[in-house]
Amino acid sequence: MDVDGIEKAALAAIDAATDERSLDDARVRFLGRKGELTTLARGLGRMSAAERPAAGAAINAAKERVQSAVEVRRRFLDTQQLERELAQEAVDVTLPGRRRPGGSLHPITMTFRRIERIFEAAGYDVVSGPEIEDEYHNFAALNIPADHPARAMHDTLYLDNGMLLRTHTSPVQVRVMESQPPPIRVICPGRVYRKDNVDASHSPMFHQVEGLVVDEGIAFADLKGAVVDFVHGFFEQDLAVRFRPSYFPFTEPSAEVDVQCVHCLGAGCRACAYTGWTEVLGCGMVHPNVLSMAGIDTERFTGFAFGFGVDRFATIFYEIDDMRLLFDNELRFLEQFA
Ligand code: DAH
Repeated sequence: MDVDGIEKAALAAIDAATDERSLDDARVRFLGRKGELTTLARGLGRMSAAERPAAGAAINAAKERVQSAVEVRRRFLDTQQLERELAQEAVDVTLPGRRRPGGSLHPITMTFRRIERIFEAAGYDVVSGPEIEDEYHNFAALNIPADHPARAMHDTLYLDNGMLLRTHTSPVQVRVMESQPPPIRVICPGRVYRKDNVDASHSPMFHQVEGLVVDEGIAFADLKGAVVDFVHGFFEQDLAVRFRPSYFPFTEPSAEVDVQCVHCLGAGCRACAYTGWTEVLGCGMVHPNVLSMAGIDTERFTGFAFGFGVDRFATIFYEIDDMRLLFDNELRFLEQFA
């Protein structure tokens, strides 16, 4: 076959190659050691000296064109392959992302923080005390002697070593008075424990905040102002607040505080048992026995104290009808407060 015919066949084969392999087959077929163009060049030796230069030049030129056609085709196939791979690995950036579930604060934590923020703004310090207490701080120092019926009412959880799990946050007021002189203005948030069975409104562990103010000239009017301001701040409404005479061993006089029902605003509904009021807090003027046991001069200082259940404030505020929900750690419940 002549050079032109072989070159045409070579260029056609190169053009027809659809991948690296068939392209290489074509290259070997024409340019390889036994390739058609190589064989043709080898035949030059049998030509006459007159024909040889022109034929040699023609074969070399054809070889170069075929060689460069192979290279062009190779680059084309490489690019095609790259594009195929890119198309295959393409990321669909319009797909919606997968969200990482975010954590959030527990409603009790949020309630504690609301309470602390309000009292801090009013100049109170936030202090804490031990959850494992001794009888003296949990009872005796609060004017609850060993034979006092209030001890039985507290359903105390005792430890083997004679210590107990505090039944209220009131022992922290004693510890504060023992450790610093007046003026005192603190709240003591924390966990408390009682031997109660679990139901919609009871839990063996729950949360309280204790308040204590001791200074010269503190009167019941100061207590009323502090409690009313706090309730209005917490519920962000000027709800009616009512003080009922009551009894606590560590305060005299003592009162229980009712707040106008936030749901019916006093009209009466299921949440307030149709009374229009919700009981939220106990308080009073610190009993002189409690002050003097803690080493405070009762001639010079008076004080008020209050204590309330944080779980109760949380269930009222967030309209939770069963306290157990606060302790179940059920995500579908907790996520509602995120
Ligand atoms: N310690 C009381 C309780 O657990 C709550 C309480 C009532 C605290 C009156 C006080 C107070 O400081 O003055 O039921």
